[in-house]
Amino acid sequence: MTQDSKAQKTNFTAIVLAAGKGTRMKSPLPKVLHPVAGVPMVLRAIQGLQKAGASEIRLVVGHGQGLVRQVVESTGVLCFEQKEQLGTANAVRSAQVENLEGEVLIMNGDHPLIFADDIRNLIQSFRELKADLAVVTAIVKKPGDLGRIIRQKNELKAIVEARDASSDTLKIREINTGLYVVKADLLKELLPKIKNENSKKEFYLTDLILLAQEENYSVQALRTSPRVAHGVNQQSELAQASQYLYRLKAKKLMEEGVLILDPKSVYIEDPVVVGPGSVIYPNVFLRGKTAIGAFSVLEPQVFISDSIIGQSVQIKMGTHIEKSEVKNNCQVGPYARLRPETVLEDEVHIGNFVELKKTKMGKKSKASHLAYLGDAEIGQECNIGCGAITVNYSADKLKHKTKVGDRTFVGSDVQLIAPIEIGNDAILGAGSVITKSVPDFALAVSRAKQTNIPDYRAKKSVKKIEE
Ligand code: UD1
Ligand code: CA
Repeated sequence: MTQDSKAQKTNFTAIVLAAGKGTRMKSPLPKVLHPVAGVPMVLRAIQGLQKAGASEIRLVVGHGQGLVRQVVESTGVLCFEQKEQLGTANAVRSAQVENLEGEVLIMNGDHPLIFADDIRNLIQSFRELKADLAVVTAIVKKPGDLGRIIRQKNELKAIVEARDASSDTLKIREINTGLYVVKADLLKELLPKIKNENSKKEFYLTDLILLAQEENYSVQALRTSPRVAHGVNQQSELAQASQYLYRLKAKKLMEEGVLILDPKSVYIEDPVVVGPGSVIYPNVFLRGKTAIGAFSVLEPQVFISDSIIGQSVQIKMGTHIEKSEVKNNCQVGPYARLRPETVLEDEVHIGNFVELKKTKMGKKSKASHLAYLGDAEIGQECNIGCGAITVNYSADKLKHKTKVGDRTFVGSDVQLIAPIEIGNDAILGAGSVITKSVPDFALAVSRAKQTNIPDYRAKKSVKKIEE
């Protein structure tokens, strides 16, 4: 069975709680927008649910909802406003449970390490056990302020919030992950019965367990791995979640034959692909939809986002690449910058302190040091000298194009005043300011002739160095 057909079969409604303020994050950003390994927590939750086959996702928003709505807009989820943050049960009510049917999965928006497989397994267990309500639990080393699972004869009895718990209860290490599956009818019947009689005067969703048991519903506790229980309430937990995902990705890549010198110090996002035999040095960032071919080398401090790098490419230390394409056998850097829409054909060399933007370099062309090429199309086997510049931005604030033919030699410190077209096999003399097109095979020089004025400096005025 393919992932997709599996996904369609799962079919449930999800409610994601994301209205809380996240006070302990001490950050102006709404909590669920904090990125974990490059992706905002709330998007991770949504992507996981979609992959697991959720037929509908309802997101409960409140604090910072303007921003949250913007971030999730393209995902197709429905947002519901919780006007006042009166607790998790109140949050679920805000999602208009009255019109829900079938199975409902409820999760907190601040648990970024819940994966699609966890959700699929949970739904499956729920069905197998013929449960009416299931709560997902985990045994953790530091239960902190998570809700404690109270069992009697191994059966789930209640969930007690840490702040309402006795010192004995606080010793329990089995906790509530905040992930539940429940039949819609049960939710509709019992949610309105939850009261706010607790230390925080909040409506706790966890009270559903007692109410459901009173009505003789089948209530189950499903134990899962501590990873699922990793909630983010403060910055250190956010960093831990990112580190977990980066390590996991490094491990996967090593299993696929990528050489990673120090797996603790590479930051590679989930969707990135790296070919076998490639080598990754420390402090490398690979972001978004990046793909690296086989046998390529990424030296320290390389940052690449949304770019395609070919085979046997060497990206040297300190290079920054965004939305670009580098084909096979190229060398880039150290300290080079490829800005969006740059394309390097096979065997191109880009050296230190060279910046390219919206520029295409033909096969075997070189720009070895200190150059700026913007809005340019450079042919094959060209040599771009040190300090050469395409002057693409005019005083009228328009961008203009530079075109250079094949095998053309652009001398050091040449300024190409765009729009301009240089032919094949041409030579542009060092230091020239080129304002007119240059035909094939021509030498273009534009600089004042050198004049030497003899004895210009009176000899006696020059002080001799005393020995
Ligand atoms: C909750 C559970 C606790 C569990 C823990 C797991 C309750 C009463 N407690 O506690 O048993 O161990 O999650 O992380 O449910 N939210 C809203 N509106 C509100 C309140 C919260 O949308 O009015 C959202 C928050 O944005 C967050 C989630 O619900 O995404 C959980 O809220 P939080 O306050 O962090 O609950 P915990 O105290 O962690
Ligand atoms: Ca929480």
